[in-house]
Amino acid sequence: MTGGAGAKAPGIEFRLMDAEDLERIMELEDELFGEDAWPRSAFEAELFQPETREYWVGEVREDPDGGGRGEVAAYGGVMCVPPVADIQTIGVARSFQGRGAGRRLLEILIDAARRRAAEDILLEVREDNARARDLYTRRGFREIHVRKRYYRGGQDAVIMQLDLSEEDA
Ligand SMILES: CC(C)(COP(=O)(O)OP(=O)(O)OC[C@H]1O[C@@H](n2cnc3c(N)ncnc32)[C@H](O)[C@@H]1OP(=O)(O)O)[C@@H](O)C(=O)NCCC(=O)NCCS
Repeated sequence: MTGGAGAKAPGIEFRLMDAEDLERIMELEDELFGEDAWPRSAFEAELFQPETREYWVGEVREDPDGGGRGEVAAYGGVMCVPPVADIQTIGVARSFQGRGAGRRLLEILIDAARRRAAEDILLEVREDNARARDLYTRRGFREIHVRKRYYRGGQDAVIMQLDLSEEDA
């Protein structure tokens, strides 16, 4: 499976994540999430449940026509137990941010949720993460709740929802 149509993310190709990606994902978790980073075991558990989880990576190849793997620069995953899906995580390497990869990845995860019969998509985002909140709001997510002191450092989580049945009507 390869990424379908979405926002432009020049130079990045999307494919499903597998266990070989985890070493690089751990570096990116540390870079992007610091104290909120997931341990490797969390990703292993997610990859072990493909019936309800779907994880994608965006990789950059020095030679786009060459074989083998490129460097993973973006990743994200969705859990779907119909009729509800949850965006579990989404991240783009700092050096690749601002080029449309996050938007493209979000669209891939929304497509996955829709394909898996979700009617609603939920996600949690740190209250102080304006950039991510903007990305979700522009895509149609609405803020429906705040979970106080949800994150380790005491920050609140904003719960956002995208109503797919409304969108598909
Ligand atoms: C949030 C994140 C995934 C966005 O990824 P990205 O690849 O930088 O996002 P994109 O380039 O697709 O940009 C998304 C939007 O932000 C805008 N944007 C890009 N660079 C920006 C910048 N420096 N400042 C503000 N907005 C910016 C873009 O214009 C785009 O808007 P559009 O959808 O109207 O075109 C990325 O910043 C990230 O990984 N952050 C750290 C981890 C994180 O917070 N994850 C989310 C946890 S809930």
